[in-house]
Amino acid sequence: MQKILLVCLGNICRSPVGEGISLHLIREYHLEQRFWVDSAGTAGYHIDESPDPRTIANAHKNGVDLSALRARQIKPEDLDYFDNIYVMDRSNYNDVVAMTKTKEQVRKVEFLLNLIEPGKNLPVPDPYYGQEKDFENVFQLVNSACRKMLSLPVAGDERQHIKPI
Ligand code: 4NP
Repeated sequence: MQKILLVCLGNICRSPVGEGISLHLIREYHLEQRFWVDSAGTAGYHIDESPDPRTIANAHKNGVDLSALRARQIKPEDLDYFDNIYVMDRSNYNDVVAMTKTKEQVRKVEFLLNLIEPGKNLPVPDPYYGQEKDFENVFQLVNSACRKMLSLPVAGDERQHIKPI
């Protein structure tokens, strides 16, 4: 079982989209024995809150229900428990790496979009002060990366195949 944590700043816009898409795909492709996916924020501003209403509405439009998710803050134990910690941007990366105590923990931290654009350290742009198109952009970027994360085919990527369960 690969345990994966998705991390953004507030855990109400970007990382819950990743968690919701991943849980949706895990159910759809019966991957429950292979992946455990959770999300958290580096900040504690929104603990126990639902995702941002704009995030919920955009995900719903794309067929993903985020309404049951609640925000939480990343904690030191997460750095041991999870195998991979995917962050949305440089600021998240620096904040998570600042919490690490070992080189093994540092090695777990990676930019989410490096799954689809290796080595570029591209950000998933924060949509909090943006508009609907910015939430849609987050959904599409995170969707492609999470499909790759779960070894599922990504649109336009002929090299990806569904692995047998
Ligand atoms: P997220 O977006 O990190 O994708 O959840 C944000 C959520 C809240 C805030 C900033 C970004 N905030 O400043 O409260």
